[in-house]
Amino acid sequence: MKIQYLGHASLAIEANGKHIVVDPFITPNELAKHIDFESLKADYIVLTHAHQDHVYDVEELAKRTGALIISNAEIAGYYAAKGLNSHGMNTGGKFNFDFGSIQSTIAFHSSSFADGTYGGDPNGYIIESEGKRIYIAGDTALTYEMKLIPDTIGQLDLAILPIGDNFTMGAKSASIAAEYVQATKVLGYHYDTFPPIKIDKAEAKSIFFSRHIQLILLDIGEDLTV
Ligand code: NI
Ligand code: MN
Repeated sequence: MKIQYLGHASLAIEANGKHIVVDPFITPNELAKHIDFESLKADYIVLTHAHQDHVYDVEELAKRTGALIISNAEIAGYYAAKGLNSHGMNTGGKFNFDFGSIQSTIAFHSSSFADGTYGGDPNGYIIESEGKRIYIAGDTALTYEMKLIPDTIGQLDLAILPIGDNFTMGAKSASIAAEYVQATKVLGYHYDTFPPIKIDKAEAKSIFFSRHIQLILLDIGEDLTV
């Protein structure tokens, strides 16, 4: 799988030739001005929760591409009511798509749309494709439930964890989360976009390094392959 960082918590994943966009918040992000949103490909749009900094660009992207929106039942229903294609899931559930599978995980956060509509429970996701397994934590606190992932689902090739603090885990909690999920390689996200989540990147890397975990911080637009 190829994972491109689009800034904040937005990712573009290529898996078995399919394009999966996670939590698109690109056009309002000053740090992501160089990302060409108009030519972004999407067969699927995966959403962790309904907050504006995760769904801002969903409608435009889904209308242009016809992508299937995968999220919890409430978010899927919200977009279905707007005439968009959606697939509703709920916490703990797994489903096979043509690129591989997605399993919804527990995330401790909140979830409502900008218009006040209830957004259901927030989630993380495990994506399995091309014989690899990645964990996208979504916005979450550190939670003991993360230990269930390696115990019940299996070893991860990459964990994508929020590290910006204030709204989610910061680097210290995220480094403990990485231990809980038994990841040795972590892609950090959900940092630097807004003043309360600006971080010292070198300090964040050293916090992970002290636990023998590699923290990868990509430039916006840069990608990695697992
Ligand atoms: Ni949020
Ligand atoms: Mn967020």
